[in-house]
Amino acid sequence: MITLGIETSCDETAVAVIEDGFTVRANLIAGQVHLHERFGGVVPEVAARAHVEALSPLMAEALEAAGLSGFGDIDGVAVTVGPGLVGALLVGMAAAKSLSLATGAPLIGIDHLEGHIWANFLTHGPPEPPYIALVVSGGHTMIVHMPELFRYEVLGQTLDDAAGEAFDKVARLIGLGFPGGPALDAMARDGNPDAIRFPRSMERSGDFDSSMSGLKTAVLRHVKAERAAGHDIDLPDLAASFQEAIVDVQVGKTIEAARQLDVGTVLLGGGVVANTRLRERMERDGGASGLRVLFPPLELCTDNAAMIACAGAARLARGERTSLDIGADPNLGLAS
Ligand code: KG4
Ligand code: ZN
Repeated sequence: MITLGIETSCDETAVAVIEDGFTVRANLIAGQVHLHERFGGVVPEVAARAHVEALSPLMAEALEAAGLSGFGDIDGVAVTVGPGLVGALLVGMAAAKSLSLATGAPLIGIDHLEGHIWANFLTHGPPEPPYIALVVSGGHTMIVHMPELFRYEVLGQTLDDAAGEAFDKVARLIGLGFPGGPALDAMARDGNPDAIRFPRSMERSGDFDSSMSGLKTAVLRHVKAERAAGHDIDLPDLAASFQEAIVDVQVGKTIEAARQLDVGTVLLGGGVVANTRLRERMERDGGASGLRVLFPPLELCTDNAAMIACAGAARLARGERTSLDIGADPNLGLAS
């Protein structure tokens, strides 16, 4: 069974072809960072226009890369329906609906966050719930219980910024450009995570929610105070210390969720899972707590369409279908 996946929720145009649910035959991404970086963030209208330009050629390229002879070889079409930028989502959805209508292959709409969770199963094999999932991206920071297939209970989430957003804002503050997460990660490798003790907001709140605003303010205050005093700021130390504060809270809460719900496997999903320190600490601390820790390879952490096709193929296989009159749902988010 061949599933074509389309993902256009933010600033990556992505098309993938997977076979039998878990084998990636093509996974293509046309990034748009160069269009957005001068604005310091993703501009929704620019993103939607770039998806319009990139999507059709990318679909043709994906067919070829997968060795298919034409759209008629496709058995199912999976597309992200939310959360994300509405104009950007609609571009992918229009293409997916047209393809479904033209070929008769059924359509399945997928929650982008479910896709991030399912990215794990492309590498680690079909799901065997229960899991505790930490979903950390540019728009979301959530701890989720997946007690069985296709059921997601959000245990807690950020009350303000998402982790990726905090990475991007702090990176911008110290001049690392956009998106700053990967650059900050690279810089932090040369820094001391214990150099500056930034606040671990809500570390002991007794729930699974978190907050980034106190940490962001503390970093800003630190930078201003050091600059006012005429000191050179050690940027690697600052990056490593900031990163450690986020990682401490998220890793600690994820392990605690697994303990409280008596779940033995933790999985990570979302762009921030590309973070070296988060992967390292989750493996180390999770392992020390007797947990199995799964995360996708780097290219499947950030936005891609293979994860959408993977979740879509599983839903199609159990007979689910999405009607062609479905709209985009920018506020979707697992159980919500
Ligand atoms: O999942 P994703 O590709 O898009 C959304 O669904 O939002 O996540 C993008 C986010 C951005 O904020 C980016 O800076 C962050 O993931 N990110 C990282 C790293 N790679 C990407 N953050 C920290 N360290 C990284 N290595
Ligand atoms: Zn994402």
